[in-house]
Amino acid sequence: RLPVSLPQLAEKKRLGEPIVMVTAYDYPSAQVAEKAGVDVVLVGDSGAMTVLGYPSTVPVSVEEMLMLASAARRGLRTPLLVADLPFGSFETSNEQAIMTASRFIKEAGVDAVKIEANGVAVERARALVGAGIPVMGHVGLTPQTATALGGYRAQGRTAERALDVARDALALEEAGCFSIVFEAIPAPVAAILMEQMEVPIIGIGAGSSTDGQVLVFHDLLGIREGVGARFVKRYADIQDEMVAGVRAYADDVRHQRYPAPDHTYSIDPGELERFRS
Ligand code: KIV
Ligand code: NA
Repeated sequence: RLPVSLPQLAEKKRLGEPIVMVTAYDYPSAQVAEKAGVDVVLVGDSGAMTVLGYPSTVPVSVEEMLMLASAARRGLRTPLLVADLPFGSFETSNEQAIMTASRFIKEAGVDAVKIEANGVAVERARALVGAGIPVMGHVGLTPQTATALGGYRAQGRTAERALDVARDALALEEAGCFSIVFEAIPAPVAAILMEQMEVPIIGIGAGSSTDGQVLVFHDLLGIREGVGARFVKRYADIQDEMVAGVRAYADDVRHQRYPAPDHTYSIDPGELERFRS
């Protein structure tokens, strides 16, 4: 397969072919996404929680995100690779945004960056696009500013708030975003917005009217527990498998079943005798 391009995503929208996006944060998860044939891989700042163990996405640094993105890049050939600009790395000025995004492109080799709607995102998106950096927007539930939104909860559940989401989405599109994520908004609200949106819209908890779907790798595979977002569908229980595997290994070591003769190296008996004496 050839690498996925921005025009190809627009073409998929035009043809009504659903776009598949998944997160990845390292070499093996990227390889899984590659082999599974997804269209877009997102090095989400959800990695702050899924692989770095922070309580939210807010603390993750640019350096940490660059390390995750570089590792994912090394595991990918085909999907478009997008990385989240983390909280605090783009808000201050257009210059800061361009400098941070350039690092993701030059040092990690990503194809595009994603920014969450906030008071300055539209201006930043316009500046980034102007600097030649492809930008994906993100509206609805925006975890970087979840405190201001009243926590991790669905957005756009009143007419006024739905209008806020609509304004964010249209303004980000107008600023030049090539695609936008709709997170945690009522399906009927998303469906009405979809009548207006010209760029491919990727949904997560936004119903089935969007042009594509995204899920967090660790949620869909059951690698982390206790995440109860309504929109998560679990396709595997990998953490159980991993615990069972490590437990079986521990049990083998403790009962001296591992290593077996098959797992050990031999030496010529003569050499061994010389070594002994
Ligand atoms: O960080 C992330 O994983 C995301 C997706 C849920 C869209 O932003
Ligand atoms: Na994110």
